[in-house]
Amino acid sequence: MAQKPKRRVRHHVNPLSFRRPVELPDWSTAFANPELPLEVDVGCMHGTFMLERARRVPEHNFVGLEIRVPLVEEVRQRIERDALPNARVVLCNANTSFTDLFAPQSVHRVYVHFPDPWFKAKHHKRRLVKPEFLDAVASRLTPDGELQFATDYKDYAEEVLDLVEAHPRYTNRFGPRAPAQPDPERVLTNREAWHLSLGDPVYRYHWGLAPG
Ligand SMILES: C[S@@+](CC[C@H](N)C(=O)[O-])C[C@H]1O[C@@H](n2cnc3c(N)ncnc32)[C@H](O)[C@@H]1O
Repeated sequence: MAQKPKRRVRHHVNPLSFRRPVELPDWSTAFANPELPLEVDVGCMHGTFMLERARRVPEHNFVGLEIRVPLVEEVRQRIERDALPNARVVLCNANTSFTDLFAPQSVHRVYVHFPDPWFKAKHHKRRLVKPEFLDAVASRLTPDGELQFATDYKDYAEEVLDLVEAHPRYTNRFGPRAPAQPDPERVLTNREAWHLSLGDPVYRYHWGLAPG
């Protein structure tokens, strides 16, 4: 029997060269109940984290943002197969599409889990977390909303800490520059499970919006 050709999933897509127009979903019809609090998983990859949370927390809606086409297709199929009424995935560059995708003050929580570190200094400009991205997220979070960030890469953790802690809209939930307290109930992402199995350190921070 002829074998189905395997889809090639590139390891990285350079966000600075991503040119596809984003298809903006109609959020009023995208979910069974559009009124539920919205959680956004930026760089959802296979959707493992987001879909497990969608199963565990049916009283919230979930959107995965992903820049790699075959992964978006895979997540879409998983959502369909599991008939999840509270999960969606969008093909986009989150750096350029975040404010177009969501209305002001409409997102309850944003996850940035293990973003590509782009190790070489000349590639740091491709990193996801930049001042403009933080502005975009702050403008879309609800007043009680939260940005959660995790990485295994100390250099990136420190860069993000410097950026977010200097940003006037954010306040660290656990005190200035403090890591998030471990939550044994939390859903692990693919990357997090892998790093924990290797005994790698994980740098995790949660920021709310500053009052006022
Ligand atoms: C290292 S993986 C981490 C995946 C997952 N969050 C986890 O923790 O297992 C980073 C993911 O972010 C996606 N990504 C990178 N830059 C992006 C961007 N600008 N917009 C949307 N997705 C992006 C990549 O394609 C990749 O799937």
